[in-house]
Amino acid sequence: MKIFDEIESEVQSYARSFPRVFNRAKNEFLYDEEGNQYLDFLAGAGTLNYGHNNDLFKPLLLKYIEDDGITHGLDMHTKAKGKFLEAFNEKILKPRKLDYVMQFTGPTGTNAVEAALKLARNITGRENVIAFTNGFHGVSLGSLAATGNSHHRGAAGVSLSGVTRMPYDGYLGDEVDTIEYLDKVLSDTSSGVDLPAAVIVETVQGEGGINVASFQWLQNLEAVCRKHDILLIVDDIQAGCGRTGTYFSFEEAGISPDIVTLSKSIGGYGLPFAVVLFKPELDQWKPGEHNGTFRGNNFAFVTAKAAIDYYWSDDAFSKAIKKKGQYISDRLEKIIEQYGEGNFTTRGRGMFQGINCVNGELASKITKKCFQSGLMIETSGADDQVVKFLCPLIISEDSLAKGIDIVEQAIKEVCASENNIPEDTDYFDTVYQQQA
Ligand SMILES: Cc1ncc(COP(=O)(O)O)c(C=O)c1O
Repeated sequence: MKIFDEIESEVQSYARSFPRVFNRAKNEFLYDEEGNQYLDFLAGAGTLNYGHNNDLFKPLLLKYIEDDGITHGLDMHTKAKGKFLEAFNEKILKPRKLDYVMQFTGPTGTNAVEAALKLARNITGRENVIAFTNGFHGVSLGSLAATGNSHHRGAAGVSLSGVTRMPYDGYLGDEVDTIEYLDKVLSDTSSGVDLPAAVIVETVQGEGGINVASFQWLQNLEAVCRKHDILLIVDDIQAGCGRTGTYFSFEEAGISPDIVTLSKSIGGYGLPFAVVLFKPELDQWKPGEHNGTFRGNNFAFVTAKAAIDYYWSDDAFSKAIKKKGQYISDRLEKIIEQYGEGNFTTRGRGMFQGINCVNGELASKITKKCFQSGLMIETSGADDQVVKFLCPLIISEDSLAKGIDIVEQAIKEVCASENNIPEDTDYFDTVYQQQA
């Protein structure tokens, strides 16, 4: 179709990696207009944890539309919103002993982050916020200031202020405790780091290359926040909603963030929806201070409630995610043992996993080859060096195995062609011969 070249902006990104016209999707599969099937290890960048057009939710959404349920209601009370809030409170918050109020923001992750940062700054009267190396929090100006990636930051057009960057867990190698450093600069009145309103952190950095913070590191981070009277914001937009094996990615670390942002899969059906959760005493907003026309999406309330009812009423889903997560990490371990000459490493938690191929070009060759074999999978990380496994959580075991087989084959072929230098020939001879 020429129309995309004709009038769609150059800003497209995923469309470049997967240059097909897609037409249908079901569970873990997408289909292009010619009917070719693609296995989806991308899952809408973490938005389709429950797959495409999930049959458990679809009839409820269709019925709601058929009955002329409210589609748009600004932030007014609707029956659908009330039912979602009840389900979230009874099945997500209460069993986890979490006492949060919920703010509906504009439907993107970045808008939830904007709200979280504003709230923290307004409550504390402080401007500075600590964010971490390789963190990704969105691309509107406030959240972009907290995002590390220079490609995105470069497009801001204004200076990005109010954020101090600190090294994430492992950023300076295993030997350096980066929380000790954070505590040191916050304790030293001459460090040059202003006392921040908040720290914003991903427990597993998705766009930053599947960097996993240890539970100990997260606990120490929380302790430093408490010590210096700083609010702790967990950005659970990508890692939350079950991706790491529990509903919130911070549950197993046993920490209690002051503010949590959620978006992507919270709506259940891939519908735009974002919220901020915060401790009741932090609810110091004045009416409409952070507003937006699309606060709360009534269609998404219906499917978000369904997702909670069907998947989060007991711990069966969580167990299934952990089992599949273990399978993924076992398979990836075996792959890196066999290929990459010891340079590749695995990383991740639950069904949020990756292979670090060190080199972005290599990772990109691998994902391209996967696509030729019918698997959609992307890279992440500063140099796009990490092949990122983000399949729907509901994927069948068979599809999961097939997808990983495709990646394994692609790695095998790409590594073989990279190493395709005839034995007993000097490498430089080969290069010179090629140049000649
Ligand atoms: C952790 C995290 N925060 C915020 C965002 C921004 O969300 P959105 O793209 O919906 O604005 C993302 C998107 O990938 C994310 O992964």
